[in-house]
Amino acid sequence: MHDASVYQPPLFSEPHAPPRPMSPAGAPAPRPSYQLSQADALHWLQGLPSDSVDLIVTDPPYESLEKHRAVGTTTRLKRSRASSNDWFPVFPNARFPELFREAYRVLKRDRHFYLFCDQETLFVAKPAAEAAGFKFWKPLVWDKLKLGMGYHYRARYEFILFFEKGKRRLADLGVPDVLQAARIRGGYPTEKPVELIEQLITQSSEPEQLVVDPFFGSGAVGVAALKHGRHFAGADVAEPALELARARLAALGEPPRRGPARGRHSGRDR
Ligand SMILES: C[S@@+](CC[C@H](N)C(=O)[O-])C[C@H]1O[C@@H](n2cnc3c(N)ncnc32)[C@H](O)[C@@H]1O
Repeated sequence: MHDASVYQPPLFSEPHAPPRPMSPAGAPAPRPSYQLSQADALHWLQGLPSDSVDLIVTDPPYESLEKHRAVGTTTRLKRSRASSNDWFPVFPNARFPELFREAYRVLKRDRHFYLFCDQETLFVAKPAAEAAGFKFWKPLVWDKLKLGMGYHYRARYEFILFFEKGKRRLADLGVPDVLQAARIRGGYPTEKPVELIEQLITQSSEPEQLVVDPFFGSGAVGVAALKHGRHFAGADVAEPALELARARLAALGEPPRRGPARGRHSGRDR
C-alpha cells in the first residue's frame, strides 16, 4: 500500500471531458468527482479533515456476519467473484467506538450518518455511536422484497441505523421508514442495491456535496452519489473491491480525483 491523499474538491477538469449539462443560470453544472483508496476504514477516516464530509453511508463487515456464514445461511458469501480469499475480513465490534468517533469528527454539523447492520450489531453500534456524539433517530428497515435464507422466519429485511450530527431536515418528510428494493443476487458479497442508497442520498444531501463510504465494497454508494451529482470518497481494504468499484465508477464517465499524497493514513488512491 502507498500513501493516499485526503479528499479535496476537484480543482480541474479533464482536458478532453465531454460537454457538461448547463445549470439554470447557464453555467456548466460542476462535475462530480470521486476518490477510492485501498486502506483500513479507520485509518482512512483519520486522514480526513474535521468537518469536511456531508454524508456517510456505510456497510461495515460486522462480526455477526461470520456467525451467519458459520451456520450456512450465507453460503453465497463464501464464493465471491470479487474476493480471492472467499470472504473479506470482518471489522471487530471492539473497533466501533473509535470508528464512530472519527465518523463524527469528519462529518460537518447538521449532517446524517447511515449504517447498515443486522439485529445483533444494532445493539452494539447504537450505544457506541451515541457515545461518539450522534443522535440516534431510528432503524430504517430495508425490505428486500424476496425471501432470503435462514431457519427461524426466513430473512427479508436488514436494518439501516439513522443517525444525526446536529439537526438536519430530510428532503422529503413523506418517505416511510421501510424502504423497498430488491436484493442483489450473484453480485459482490452483501452488495446493496444502488436504488436503495439513492433514497438515502437524496434524503440527506444536496448536489455537489461530499458523500463518504469507508467500506465501499462494490462501490454502490459511490455509484448512487455520482448519479445524483454528489462527490464521493471511500476506502476498502480489499484489492478486488477496489478494482470492481473503480470499474463501476469509471463506467459512469466522471473523472476520479487524483492528487498528491497528503493523508496521515496508509492507502492507495485510484
Ligand atoms: C459488507 S461489505 C460492503 C458492501 C457494499 N456496501 C456494497 O454494496 O458492495 C464490507 C466491505 O468492507 C471491506 N473491509 C473489511 N475490513 C475493512 C477495513 N478494516 N477497512 C476498510 N474496509 C474493510 C471488505 O473488503 C468489504 O468489501
